[in-house]
Amino acid sequence: MKRVLRILIPLVLILCAGAYAFLPGAQSLSQQPFAFSKNVAGAYSSMSKNEAMYIRQIIAADSTKSRTIMWQSEAVENGAIVEYRVKGNEQISSAPATNEPFTDDKITTYLHSVTLSNLTANTKYEYRVGYGDKRSEWHDFATAGRGKFKALIFPDSQSNDYRGWASLVQSAGKANPEASFFINMGDLVDNGEDHTQWRAWFDSVQGMIDRIPVAPLLGNHETYDLNWKVRMPTAYLNLFSLPANGSQERKNQYYSYDYDDVHFIVLNTQMGEMEQFQPCLLETQIEWFKNDISKTNKKWKVVLMHKDVLTYAFKNRTDRQAGISDIGQAFMPLFDQYDVDVVLTAHLHTYRNRGHIKNFERDARGPLYILTGVAGNVRYPELWADHSLDVKVAPQPETDNYMTLEVSGNTLKLAAFLPDGKQIDSVEIKK
Ligand SMILES: [Fe+2]
Repeated sequence: MKRVLRILIPLVLILCAGAYAFLPGAQSLSQQPFAFSKNVAGAYSSMSKNEAMYIRQIIAADSTKSRTIMWQSEAVENGAIVEYRVKGNEQISSAPATNEPFTDDKITTYLHSVTLSNLTANTKYEYRVGYGDKRSEWHDFATAGRGKFKALIFPDSQSNDYRGWASLVQSAGKANPEASFFINMGDLVDNGEDHTQWRAWFDSVQGMIDRIPVAPLLGNHETYDLNWKVRMPTAYLNLFSLPANGSQERKNQYYSYDYDDVHFIVLNTQMGEMEQFQPCLLETQIEWFKNDISKTNKKWKVVLMHKDVLTYAFKNRTDRQAGISDIGQAFMPLFDQYDVDVVLTAHLHTYRNRGHIKNFERDARGPLYILTGVAGNVRYPELWADHSLDVKVAPQPETDNYMTLEVSGNTLKLAAFLPDGKQIDSVEIKK
């Protein structure tokens, strides 16, 4: 009997441990990063492209001490892990990543994600991903905390051919190698369910997104299914693990983050699209916005939202009046009330600097409003008439463009560029 127990007890323990690993809560437990000292240089074999797809950095709530790393794989990767170290330092820390199957558009990939925490501010690091005895190449990342930074801002990238988007991203990256992160203003893809478009988007940002984090926005095109009907933006919500907003139901839809002395608030403007799936987005989000912005003590407050606050009339038709959009009516008074400095919008595929607006009128005391332009190949030449609040409009007919945001001390500077790097607009705020 004793002999039987000696065999059975370890067997039961092994089975229980195995079963625990598949419990729903087990993965979140294993997401708690831990650190240990290990020198494994050269001990691993390299990962194939299908094992380390789209290695990417995602903006975290506080970039002085945290960074989210994600990648995808075609097959399960038990023991998925991110290893990282201060650049030039041998000592490696390690954090377990998730290993979750995700099926959409009839394609299954495994999503791996972990938020590295307890990092040191203003420090250059490198990281690699892996599982078992396989590891990727090392990739650089750096924490915030220098007291000044530059970010790249890309308007809507939705395209029917992503080569132009790829070219814009790559040339903007080359022209601004010091950029700390990049923003994509929503409508990343033309069709939110089409996995080939997501692959084209990720292929286009390779060389940038593994090196600096992305801060994406949800746009209306992320909510379109293959039949161009509205659905929950499932792909977007799974492909980017964004800072928590306190709501499990609306996870990854809207969020905020700090970068040095700037508090960024990213809104979900898809109230109409989401209504049949998750009603009351506007009311819920307004409550969240008030709570979030009240808590920040950052010098600068920047709001990023896909749909615009103004309505534009058509140039050659009379069936649309210029004015303030429903979203503008709902949010602009809040931006006034909470002293927002800059509001960046997108969706209309045109670059318009509207200057400072308060109480729906030109007023130097209000936030600066910029409609960021277009970064994909879906253009609306000659569509929009100028708005009475427009201060600067991109040269017509418009090509694609990108922007930079530079913050240093008491100066915040925004500039807009054509793909060849020619500057078409710039504006500074000081305080
Ligand atoms: Fe849009």
